Amino acid sequence: MNALNTTAEALLDDRPSGSDGADQMGHLVTGELDLSHGVALYLDDITVSFDGFRALNKLNLTIDAGELRCIIGPNGAGKTTMMDVITGKTRPDSGSAFFGQTMDLTRLTEPEIAHAGIGRKFQKPTIFENHSVFENLELAMKTDKRVWKSLLAWLAADERDRIAETLRLIRLDKEADRPAGLLSHGQKQWLEIGMLLMQEPKLLLLDEPVAGMTDDETMRTAELFVSLAGKHSLVVVEHDMAFIEKLGGKVTVLHEGSVLAEGNLATVQNDPRVIEVYLGR
Ligand SMILES: Nc1ncnc2c1ncn2[C@@H]1O[C@H](COP(=O)(O)OP(=O)(O)OP(=O)(O)O)[C@@H](O)[C@H]1O
Ligand SMILES: [Mg+2]
Repeated sequence: MNALNTTAEALLDDRPSGSDGADQMGHLVTGELDLSHGVALYLDDITVSFDGFRALNKLNLTIDAGELRCIIGPNGAGKTTMMDVITGKTRPDSGSAFFGQTMDLTRLTEPEIAHAGIGRKFQKPTIFENHSVFENLELAMKTDKRVWKSLLAWLAADERDRIAETLRLIRLDKEADRPAGLLSHGQKQWLEIGMLLMQEPKLLLLDEPVAGMTDDETMRTAELFVSLAGKHSLVVVEHDMAFIEKLGGKVTVLHEGSVLAEGNLATVQNDPRVIEVYLGR
């Protein structure tokens, strides 16, 4: 085998393995995501305490594969903490969290969870301001894909197609060559969503994604999320009711770390307990 092949082999060996994977610690790292039962995310009796205060209190939540779920609830209800648990940033005191049928999120590290296919958007965009919009998407592609790209030039065209498709999806195709720092606030948010999409996540967690957006940008963001559902599962935390209505998905109301109500928006909006703790204020 020549030197190039050896290098290629070594790099390819670095790729996450297919379906067998447990790392040296015995963690299930890359086991294929199993959506065969139609469930993308399953949280069962999750409790998280901070100095005795229960931010999550026996929280139960099931998100179907391809579902678009909205999470609402008053400040301090535990919405962000729930996302911290799903992404491995915070470990629950008790309870279980599964991604698909088999992936135990409580046993994976944050990078492993991201790699397994859970993407999270934080409120403040973390884009590369000095790079163009196009380059931001390019940089966001999975590392192993970039390795492939440098080795196998024929993949580059395919990657350019994916970037072009994502640019259209996030409505930034006309801004591809502009430095990301020059985009509007809303466009920066879309770019970050695009960067998440380049990693092909199966589950997207979006915490207050339309905060600070204009009404028009907010509605366009809703259209984008609706178009992503099906191929991805989405969990969207928001306070903006017009946005939630436009998304049209099932709504879960969190309160004091547990589910207070769940159903379509009209149902939860008319629930006296929800009005009492959240909407009526
Ligand atoms: N790292 C932490 N240490 C101590 N307390 C925390 C920590 N993270 C969150 N909390 C507390 O847990 C509770 C839930 O917070 P969380 O951020 O999950 O609420 P939220 O539903 O996202 O609220 P908001 O709508 O304001 O974003 C709050 O009382 C918060 O102060
Ligand atoms: Mg929050």
